[in-house]
Amino acid sequence: MTYHSAKKLTLGEMPFIAGINPAGESYPAMLNEAPHMLVGGTTGSGKTVFLYSLLTCLLDRFALDELRLAIVDPKMTNFMFCNQLTNLEHEKVITDDDAAAELFDWIVDEEIPRRMEVLSQSGSIDINDHNERSDDQLRPLVVFIDEYADLIDGLGDESDEFEENVRRIAQKARSLGIHLVISTQRPSAKIIDTDLRANLDMRVAFRLPSASDSQVILDESGAEDLGGNGDMLFREPDGITRLQGAFVDPEYLRNLIDSKVNQ
Ligand SMILES: Nc1ncnc2c1ncn2[C@@H]1O[C@H](COP(=O)(O)OP(=O)(O)OP(=O)(O)O)[C@@H](O)[C@H]1O
Ligand SMILES: [Mg+2]
Repeated sequence: MTYHSAKKLTLGEMPFIAGINPAGESYPAMLNEAPHMLVGGTTGSGKTVFLYSLLTCLLDRFALDELRLAIVDPKMTNFMFCNQLTNLEHEKVITDDDAAAELFDWIVDEEIPRRMEVLSQSGSIDINDHNERSDDQLRPLVVFIDEYADLIDGLGDESDEFEENVRRIAQKARSLGIHLVISTQRPSAKIIDTDLRANLDMRVAFRLPSASDSQVILDESGAEDLGGNGDMLFREPDGITRLQGAFVDPEYLRNLIDSKVNQ
């Protein structure tokens, strides 16, 4: 899963392996160029395994003190072993809807303005520019939400404010090193609306029930014909590629986290 590059990367450049292409080669991509990602797929199609593989790539690339992470897992099942990570915002995996709302309030009200101020002080256009020129490194923050539609349902009356925050982050955080990775089983056009989709440029579709669900995730049909078990369509600004997601099981990720934490 290691991404090999001859060029020294600055803190903020975020390579990962999106999957394996039909020729059997790993397919690299850059999260910071997206800079946000939408992952859709029916139950059991491979979304959580994909998030594990992305997290594995990030933990491979960064020391824990070089990267901030926020993990929102309303289902309380898939990410609990990540609680021992020492670089989590809110210090633990967020399972509670109110805590997720607080996290997003904090990003919009405090973290975005703070990062804008840091960039303006150093006269930088974005996090990479800043980190190339400054000793005071700005750390990227990646926010994972596994099952966005469940979270929105759980928020009830507060969901409008939360969705507004998500839209603001998606729009404003482009240059600030804040990345949203949103996965959903139910890609309803109401929850994943046009405004939000416009800012989630990188899309991953696993098998979906219908062509109209595929339209919401990819802006094209096709994901309704995928085979499941990590079979995916990966959409970047320059096109769509058929890939097989890398299989990372929780035990592998747990061991990786153990070794990072005890380093
Ligand atoms: N990339 C992959 N390669 C091989 N098998 C996979 C891959 N991704 C998923 N699978 C298989 O599918 C199962 C379900 O995957 P996963 O938990 O990621 O689904 P999901 O989309 O998150 O489902 P849910 O919506 O119910 O949470 C895995 O336990 C594994 O057996
Ligand atoms: Mg899942």
